[in-house]
Amino acid sequence: AVDPVKLMKQQVGKAAADRVQSGSIVGLGTGSTTAFAIQFLGDRIKSGALTDIKGIPTSFQASVLAKQYGIPLTTLDEVDRIHIGIDGADEVDPQKNLIKGGGAAHTREKVVDSLAEQFIVVVDQSKIVDKLGSTFPVPVEVLPMAIAPVVKALEKLGGKPELRMGIKKDGPVITDQGNMVLDVTFSDIPNPPELEKTINNIPGVLENGIFVGMTDIVLIGEIKDGNPTVR
Ligand code: A5P
Repeated sequence: AVDPVKLMKQQVGKAAADRVQSGSIVGLGTGSTTAFAIQFLGDRIKSGALTDIKGIPTSFQASVLAKQYGIPLTTLDEVDRIHIGIDGADEVDPQKNLIKGGGAAHTREKVVDSLAEQFIVVVDQSKIVDKLGSTFPVPVEVLPMAIAPVVKALEKLGGKPELRMGIKKDGPVITDQGNMVLDVTFSDIPNPPELEKTINNIPGVLENGIFVGMTDIVLIGEIKDGNPTVR
């Protein structure tokens, strides 16, 4: 049987790729949902439907996928705008604020996503929440030598930080930039923009996974009457 979550991710990925127009510089997000968008974008380039596309990857994973599916890449040194950005999320609230970083890519994602003139978030319905932090901790990328004081500072803010450990590796997850990730559980996040700023003010923190006021469009994959659809 086909996994329904995979079907939903595929559908939203395609819907996002369909919104890209020829001549665009495209922010390429990270994660399993965006991977489908990158694949469909590559298909449209291969078929000739899309021309003159350049991608800006948000991670090692995104650049590998872009190369695999034939999307030419560029960097922020070479271009001065990003027309459209496509990225996944771990949580989306009613104000379209996000928690990201389940794949430890949120630092580069925030740079690229924040620059996109139109930022499209692609998720399946399980990511929709009433309040940020209710199902997912806040990922915080930290300079390794600063882990101990940053843990203390996050505890002072009422968070429960946990060092993210590797699955097929003994020891901590290391980000694309060579840093570590603390997953911080908060019992309540009453003010996401404030918490985003407060965490980023702790010396040694590179970036946290709260994305406020960036999202233009949320495409949500759902299963309706047994069929995957996009809302
Ligand atoms: C990467 O660090 C994350 O921000 C991803 O964008 C997020 O985890 C969504 O990934 P999936 O589409 O695989 O759920």
